[in-house]
Amino acid sequence: MVKSLRIRGKEPLDGNVMISGSKNAAIPCIAAGILTDEPIILHNVPAIEDIHTLCEILAAMSVKVSYDDERTTLRMQCINPSSDIPPLLSTKMRGATLLMGTLLARCGEVIFESYGGCPIGERPIDYHLDAFRKLGAKIDTKGNQIRVSAKKLKGTLIELPFPSVGATENSILAACCAKGMTTIVNMAVEPEVMNLIEMLGKMGMQYTFDVAKSRIDIEGKTNLQGIRHSIIPDRLEAGTYSVAAAITKSSITIHPVVEAHISQVIQALRDARGTIELESGMTMRADFSDICLSPFKIETGPFPAFPTDLQPQFTSLSTQAEGRTSIIETVFENRFGHVPELQKMGAKIQISQRELTIDGPVSLKGAHVTATDIRGGMALILAALCAEGSTTVNGFEIIERGYDSLESKLSNLGANIEVIEDEEQHK
Ligand code: EPZ
Repeated sequence: MVKSLRIRGKEPLDGNVMISGSKNAAIPCIAAGILTDEPIILHNVPAIEDIHTLCEILAAMSVKVSYDDERTTLRMQCINPSSDIPPLLSTKMRGATLLMGTLLARCGEVIFESYGGCPIGERPIDYHLDAFRKLGAKIDTKGNQIRVSAKKLKGTLIELPFPSVGATENSILAACCAKGMTTIVNMAVEPEVMNLIEMLGKMGMQYTFDVAKSRIDIEGKTNLQGIRHSIIPDRLEAGTYSVAAAITKSSITIHPVVEAHISQVIQALRDARGTIELESGMTMRADFSDICLSPFKIETGPFPAFPTDLQPQFTSLSTQAEGRTSIIETVFENRFGHVPELQKMGAKIQISQRELTIDGPVSLKGAHVTATDIRGGMALILAALCAEGSTTVNGFEIIERGYDSLESKLSNLGANIEVIEDEEQHK
């Protein structure tokens, strides 16, 4: 369903926002459920489009799966899965690529045609396929279709050229059932990857992990067990609502927050002169009332560097800072889709290769803008919250892929918003 969000700016925010489970942690954990024929129960799974799509994909592959939006609990059991990922569904999300490693491990083959995901760069899967080859798999391509097959995966050394989150997760998922020892070096160590490793450990994966060396050693096993597991809170959602407080010069509380997951983000908010306090029980207060925002410098990178998935949101914030802000994007080569839309609202932003230079403060004006990806679209909503007048953000359904209950959470904080469904747009 195509939707737009209409926002009347300049409303102060107030109150508390509940943070849902992490999309980017839930997806690999659901994929891990394929590795056993025993029941898996996942708690705190966010009620977002990508999870519903993943459930449809699993059901189409004869995996027993049910998801309770209310309780955010997903139950699954994988007895005899098909190895063919349905292309019409996998094209809706990049996360479907994470089914490759588990299906290769479980069925000895995986066939897929296409995968989706935010248009923030070319986003190849060469690191994933190279890892599967190292584990002894054969890759055949026929037109758009890729078939990865292996009679038995064999432990090996996987040296990732870049700490890719997805390639790390796929390598771990394939290796935990391979024969013998697999070592992965230069792996990603994002909290979402650690949450997956924690789940696989509970399922019986034998491993040693050296975070300082970004290295994991996995002894393959064939009989992983069914377990219960909880998904970590979404650090990207927490960072996004912190920016909502900052850009409207409001004070809100955000819960739950794991401080270690967003320490770089907290530092950037403090550099902007916000007061960020971590109260007991994972509650964070973000207080920006009556302050003049200071400019800041951000360079995105693999964890623990500043997260690329919060770069667009901080770009919007920097339009309100008193001075010149620099933002460098090192992870994706095309993650500035939000910039021309912000410029329509009056933002003063220059792009030079991977660097943005933003001059502020500017008084943004409401406009008709369009979301191109989840986080870039969220950046437009944040800018609209502080803009003069009314803004219409087209492509709200794209943004909802990554944010659970976005409309109600923003409204409950006091934002003046209205969702417009497709048929109303043409009136
Ligand atoms: C995951 O994407 C996240 N998605 C992204 O979040 C996030 O931006 C990204 O990690 C980086 O943190 C999910 O977890 C579902 P990468 P992923 O492999 O795994 C290049 C969001 O908004 N690369 O770490 O696809 C790639 O092109 C989304 O929630 C290769 O060249 O990211 C990129 O430049 C957006 N070859 C860089 O590595 C490969 O085989 C990092 O990508 C794989 C990646």
